[in-house]
Amino acid sequence: MTVKELFLKLCEQLQQSAVYFGHGVSAAEDEVLLLLMKVMDMDFNALNQASLQLATEAQSQQAFALLEERISNKRPMAYVVGFSVFAGLTFKVDERALVPRSPFVQLIDAAFQPWVDMDKVSNVLDLCTGSGCIGLAVAHYFEHCHVDLSDLSEAALALASENQQALQLLNRTSLLHADLFQGNTKSYDLILTNPPYVDEVEYETLPEEFNHEPKMALVSERAGLAIPVAILSQAADHLSETGVLFLEVGFYDQALTAALPEVEFIWLDFAGDEDGDFLGDGQGICVFTRDDLIKFRPHFKEFLKSDVTQ
Ligand SMILES: C[S@@+](CC[C@H](N)C(=O)[O-])C[C@H]1O[C@@H](n2cnc3c(N)ncnc32)[C@H](O)[C@@H]1O
Repeated sequence: MTVKELFLKLCEQLQQSAVYFGHGVSAAEDEVLLLLMKVMDMDFNALNQASLQLATEAQSQQAFALLEERISNKRPMAYVVGFSVFAGLTFKVDERALVPRSPFVQLIDAAFQPWVDMDKVSNVLDLCTGSGCIGLAVAHYFEHCHVDLSDLSEAALALASENQQALQLLNRTSLLHADLFQGNTKSYDLILTNPPYVDEVEYETLPEEFNHEPKMALVSERAGLAIPVAILSQAADHLSETGVLFLEVGFYDQALTAALPEVEFIWLDFAGDEDGDFLGDGQGICVFTRDDLIKFRPHFKEFLKSDVTQ
């Protein structure tokens, strides 16, 4: 069987199964490409060119065995194959951290324009770094920056460390083990964060694939908003005078806006606007200057003090 024939058979089988797509890839074809990159030990371009090559019996068997693991255990494909492609880079991925899928990739691609002049950025913090995907991609593409990768999970940091080494970014990135900003006295020009923001009740209803990811990577108290608002209330103390914070809360953008009606949120436009600017797929990243974080801080603090849970 040729690689292309194998690809089509695997896609058909995956499409007919009741799996959930959304862990970094949105369709069966994309998942099967990852699977075949693993089995054929090829990158995307090499695999594309190998479509008429014959797959060995052993390769076919391995491919169907991995697909079975994906389907019967509802394990995200990135965990099954052990890697994921984010911002054009390959990251080692396993159950120690979330599967990379953040729309931060679009911002990195756009060099954070028009919000930030990356030439003027030296110190970056990737808060809640998980596998390190966001911070390491920034360090890779903006070679003059130093990026701190911070997380409360030691397991996630161990994975980030493996990615840091594999991407040869040891000299421009550092790992920090911390509960949000605790013990961190540095000042940053740019803080990027994709924290946990899922409501515990909603978490219980998510497709099975999410159960393979660390719960602490997804769930946040106070209907998902406790950690995002804690970050909003503390970030100004860790930003330089012209520093900027980008915070991702995905589909919780409306909940966050509703919880903080006095705060003027600026949500990034992923859908495109009249100027034709188009960041790509994504939702729910807001941006704050240090001054605005200080201006709205009383509201963040008020939210954290109140005992509203839903
Ligand atoms: C949604 S995941 C994001 C991972 C990665 N940035 C990404 O986009 O794939 C959130 C991360 O926050 C970490 N985390 C949870 N609570 C934290 C806390 N209080 N302080 C620091 N990190 C925390 C989790 O361990 C997890 O790695």
